[in-house]
Amino acid sequence: MYSKEEIIKILSSNDDSILKKADETRKQYVGNDIHLRGLIEFSNYCNRTCYYCGLRYKNKNIERYRLSPEDIINTANYAKRLGLKTIVLQSGEDVFFSNKTLCKIIEEIKKLDVALTLSIGEKTYEEYKSFKDAGADRYLLRIETTDKNLYKVLHPNMSYENRIECLYNLKSLGYETGTGCLVGLPEQTIESLADDILFFKELDADMIGIGPFIPHPNTPLGDFKINLKKNFDLSIKVMALIRILLKDINIPATTAMETINPNGQIIALQSGANVIMPNITNDEYKTKYNIYPNKQNQDILITKEKIYSIGRTISDNKGFRCK
Ligand code: 5AD
Repeated sequence: MYSKEEIIKILSSNDDSILKKADETRKQYVGNDIHLRGLIEFSNYCNRTCYYCGLRYKNKNIERYRLSPEDIINTANYAKRLGLKTIVLQSGEDVFFSNKTLCKIIEEIKKLDVALTLSIGEKTYEEYKSFKDAGADRYLLRIETTDKNLYKVLHPNMSYENRIECLYNLKSLGYETGTGCLVGLPEQTIESLADDILFFKELDADMIGIGPFIPHPNTPLGDFKINLKKNFDLSIKVMALIRILLKDINIPATTAMETINPNGQIIALQSGANVIMPNITNDEYKTKYNIYPNKQNQDILITKEKIYSIGRTISDNKGFRCK
């Protein structure tokens, strides 16, 4: 176990030997199999105004879309035909979908004998419970940053405490719980990234997604200048440390990593990651799910080739965390 000081030292130094160490930990604890999760981005409507995100409702420069429940279920069927064993339903915080509709969609998808992950934001305990009762297995809700002041600035009208409570509610309901953070946000310090990592350990998260922050032009942070290489390298290091500390969890090579480095996912898979989330949303819609610019949607065939090219295998099971 690393102390906060050690984590800060590793993140601040030029030494990247922990990447290799994370790769070894990955191999020892979760093996060579990569789990593919079929991502369906079913609505880009959002009632939040997060400073970094292109889906924020104040962004008028975006064409909004929403899949019908039938289209969502059809896309899930397509995922099943592709051989995917997990389906991830992701959207902005869209109030259009009632609890009842969401539960119906969950029940239909679960008939396909797949694992189902939701990534639809903050909900009440009762809502999380109803999704779980309907059959949902996992939930993704990034904390984004554990720096309370930064959290407050970036998320108007939201509460850090409520987000933490959501995560503990998800855990207590028996979801495999995923969280994660952005790396390279304005004013974000190495020290706060160390706190993020220690928070993931304390929560004992089952999945962690780490993404470099990529400025979106139609957001308040659009003009913020980032150093792509520095952000990428730091994200990979944060991810590697998480692998070393949480050992047996599932960690995706994220789309944001691939977006700022053409070799990003392969580097991630060789530095601790064991999951890829190919985007199976219909082409007409996935180009409109612009959280950040130039999002590299992962095509499933290209993804598979990449996996084989580095001598890894594709899992034939649902890919739950094996503690
Ligand atoms: N750059 C990188 N990642 C972003 N996200 C939102 N906006 C951006 C951005 N500009 C991430 C958030 C969210 C996930 C779905 O996308 O971390 O949880």
